[in-house]
Parts: sequence; C-alpha cells; structure tokens
Amino acid sequence: MLNVGLVGAGWWAHHAHLPAIRSHPEARLVAATDPDPERLASATALDPGVRGFPSVAEMLAAADLDVVVVASPAAFHADAARAALLAGAGVLVEKPFTLHAAEARELVELAASRRLALSVSLPYQYTRAARAVRSLLAQGELGSLVAVHGVFESYTAPLYAGDVDEYLRRVDRPHAVAPLPGTYADVALSGGGHGQSQTSHIVSALFDATDAHPERIAAESAFLAPRMDIANTLSLRLKGGAVVGIFSSGETLPRQPAQQTITYLGTRGVARHDLALATLDWALAGGDAERVEPGEGESAYPNGEPVRALIDAVLAARAGRGDAARELTEGAGRAARAVEVIERIYRDEPVDV
Ligand SMILES: NC(=O)c1ccc[n+]([C@@H]2O[C@H](COP(=O)([O-])OP(=O)(O)OC[C@H]3O[C@@H](n4cnc5c(N)ncnc54)[C@H](O)[C@@H]3O)[C@@H](O)[C@H]2O)c1
Repeated sequence: MLNVGLVGAGWWAHHAHLPAIRSHPEARLVAATDPDPERLASATALDPGVRGFPSVAEMLAAADLDVVVVASPAAFHADAARAALLAGAGVLVEKPFTLHAAEARELVELAASRRLALSVSLPYQYTRAARAVRSLLAQGELGSLVAVHGVFESYTAPLYAGDVDEYLRRVDRPHAVAPLPGTYADVALSGGGHGQSQTSHIVSALFDATDAHPERIAAESAFLAPRMDIANTLSLRLKGGAVVGIFSSGETLPRQPAQQTITYLGTRGVARHDLALATLDWALAGGDAERVEPGEGESAYPNGEPVRALIDAVLAARAGRGDAARELTEGAGRAARAVEVIERIYRDEPVDV
C-alpha cells in the first residue's frame, strides 16, 4: 500500500486527484497540506487516517510518503516538487509544470538521478488517440514531419479576471470546492494567464506526440493586464526543420465543443488529433486512412489517469520494474520543453496594448 501526500487541497485536487487516489486499491491518502484551513479540513475529513499539515516541509518531515501530488497554484509547484523528490517520493505536478524552464529541467534531472518517477498532470495524453498519434509519428508513418498547426480554445477567460462563478457556469462541472480567484487571476500565483493555464496543454501535447525539441520560438499575445494574457499565437521551428503555428484562446462559442485540434503534416501523410473529442484521423498519400475513436468507456478528458499512472509506476518500481517510472520522467522532460515555449510568452510582453 502506497502512502500519498497532497499539496494544495483545492478544486482540482477534490475533482480529479482525490477520487483517483481513493479508488486505487494499492494507495491511500495519508497527508495533506493547504494554508486554507477549510480546504485542508475538507481533504482530511475524507478518511480518518489523513493528517493535515500547515506546510509542505512539515508534511514531508512528519509523514513517510511514497507519492506526492502537487496541486497548489503554479508559483509553488517547483519548490514543492523539489522537496518531495528530495524526500524520496514519486511526484505528480499539476500543469503548468513550473513557471521557468530551468526549474522544470532541474526537477527532471533530480528525478532521473534518483530513479524517481516525476510526472506532469496532462490528461489529454492518456487517451487512445494520443497513444495512436505518438506511435504514428515515432514509427515515421507520416514520413518526415514538415509542419504542424494547432488551435486550442477554452472557456477560461473569466478566470483571468477572477470571475470564478462565471467560469463554473460556463463549464457546468460539478464541484465540492471552487477554485480560489487568485490561483488564476493573481500573476504572483499563476505566473500569467491563458498561456500558463491553457496554452501549456496544447504545447505539451505537441512535444508529447513528436518528442521534438524547439529550436526557435516566437510569441504574440493579447494581454488584459501585465502578464495576464487571454490569447496567444505561437510560431515555432522544431529541430529537424518542421514549422509549427498554434493559436490558443480563453474564449469559445458557448454550448459547443471547444475547437482543440493539432494537425501533423508529413511528407507521406496527415494526421489530425482532436483533443476535445479524443479522436485521431489520419491518411497516407497512397490512400490508406483510419479514424481512432475513444476506447470503450474512455473519457475524452481522463483527469484521474495521471495520478493512477504515477501510483502504478511507483508500485512497479518497488517491485523491481523501473521502466514505467523512467518513462513518466522522460514525459516530464518533454513537458519541460513546453515550459520553455510558454516562458517565451511572458518574456517580451508588449508594454502598451
Ligand atoms: N490538469 C488540469 O486540467 C487542471 C485543471 C484545473 C486546475 N489545474 C491546476 O491545478 C492547480 C490548482 O488549481 P485549482 O483550480 O485546484 O485551484 P484552487 O485555488 O482551487 O486550489 C489551489 C489550492 O492550493 C492552496 N495553496 C495556496 N498556496 C499553497 C501552498 N504554498 N502550498 C499548498 N497549497 C497552497 C490554496 O489554498 C488552494 O486550496 C493549478 O496549478 C492549476 O493550473 C489543472
């Protein structure tokens, strides 16, 4: 049985991680930390054995944890993940992974050097369509990658202005605990707006699928206030020569599925991954074509999978099979490349808009 600790007992922890931990037969939540006493009480009340702590340091000093889930605001991700890795735990970090690429790379190196599993919570990567696009590209089925274009719309614009009620009305998701406004609207906590919160999803999906490295990065964004962006256009060149154009926005048409697609254009074929619908369509120059639909009972956004995969990887590593842990940490290495791209959004922010 693995002992799990939680950093940040907020909306997403209650909605995604705690149910996944509780439903895992070989893991149990034993410790949680949150500076908000009500939220901490809500997480610790779930089970009599869960202890609440006022800080990450006190939790790590008092509890022997195998797995730590970091779901606090983005500005605290790097320090919490580092401390948990140094305490010997496998770590899941919410997106955005970290605010700075140097921190993300340092965490990946730390995990790899200690043979610990480090993973970033990116549910879009756990669908059958995501696995299919990874394997199509890795096997060179589309030929050499020439160009990629992506669009990623979300309903998140109200969050950047601190209007949590309007956001929850738009997404119509049940919630026991709502996000705190500052988690998304205070740049000292969020590190920025849409780029941090949402563009991080599509850029991470691009690197997950291609395993490519960015060579040149250019960004233009619409800012509501300093560092508080609501839409981004990114232009990348990947090592190997492929060019990438991405548009991402916090506004979309209500009551319709958000447009969230990435299209891969190769010398021998084309594939389109629809992240919102969890489908993949691909066609080769010779005429072969296929559609990958979601697996039986598969959610298009399997938000419990990241923590389940981490728990399974730590269990396998304890049993002497370290492959899954290594693969998760390699995935965190790809997510670190996304941090490098997102960081670029905030580097040359225009002064007047
Ligand atoms: N992967 C996804 O789809 C997804 C979805 C929603 C949120 N998230 C991410 O999850 C994280 C939390 O977002 P949320 O929507 O749950 O927000 P939230 O405001 O509900 O939760 C954040 C919690 O962290 C606590 N906190 C603040 N400072 C802390 C610290 N230093 N140590 C520990 N806890 C601290 C807050 O009191 C709050 O309870 C963010 O990084 C967000 O980007 C990811």
